[in-house]
Amino acid sequence: MRDSLENEIPHIKFKDVSFSYPGKKGNLIFKCNFTIKKPGFWMVVGRNGSGKSTLIKLINGIIKPKTGVINLKANIGTVLQNPDHQILMPNCRSELLININQNISQNEINRKIEYVLDQVGMTGFEKRPVNTLSGGQKQRLTIACALIGDRNFIVLDEPTALLDQTSQLKVLKTIKNLTSNHKKPLSALWITHRYEELTYADAVAELKNGFLSSWQEPSKFRYN
Ligand SMILES: Nc1ncnc2c1ncn2[C@@H]1O[C@H](COP(=O)(O)OP(=O)(O)OP(=O)(O)O)[C@@H](O)[C@H]1O
Ligand SMILES: [Mg+2]
Repeated sequence: MRDSLENEIPHIKFKDVSFSYPGKKGNLIFKCNFTIKKPGFWMVVGRNGSGKSTLIKLINGIIKPKTGVINLKANIGTVLQNPDHQILMPNCRSELLININQNISQNEINRKIEYVLDQVGMTGFEKRPVNTLSGGQKQRLTIACALIGDRNFIVLDEPTALLDQTSQLKVLKTIKNLTSNHKKPLSALWITHRYEELTYADAVAELKNGFLSSWQEPSKFRYN
């Protein structure tokens, strides 16, 4: 993670954020405070039902806090657990096209498509029908869609939960590379259940009882 490029760096800050779904007693998220102000690979773990997906929805604005403040200076892209719930078009090119600002020349569009496919290790996949892709390739296509939309912060909600180990590793390494690219580093917040994934993170926090713990080094991380 780096301290330079201060003005371009996406920034997320939760200040005393609380949230509960309508009709539910008590707060699912309670006075939650955390900051992400450096590019890097940030991971959050938590038990089933601890509110991880709710945290993602608060970040991308699908739901609003009951109390507290969320400060965002980030262009956020989202990757869900199941890419079939996210991909709309029949092939890679058309899916990328609906995510791009098309107010640019055809040459520029082609250059960007080539670039983002290369970034996710899918060079040459432009014309491939989506239904011929593996789960991991679909996940990497959704990451490419975030990149082509000039997102600088990607939130990923258990993106490897449905993948085999080979695809899991490819998706993990894709995000690792993007977040450690020194020219244009990306910020990624990755929700996971899989303990072995934590070693890829720059920092890990646990969501428990509505709170997010402080960020910890993966090698020192222990569940509370
Ligand atoms: N739209 C909703 N309306 C009411 N309750 C909800 C809604 N969405 C989630 N919940 C409840 O909020 C709690 C937290 O859900 P959430 O999906 O955020 O947990 P999670 O940590 O992502 O779980 P998992 O590990 O299973 O993905 C659960 O008890 C769930 O039933
Ligand atoms: Mg969830």
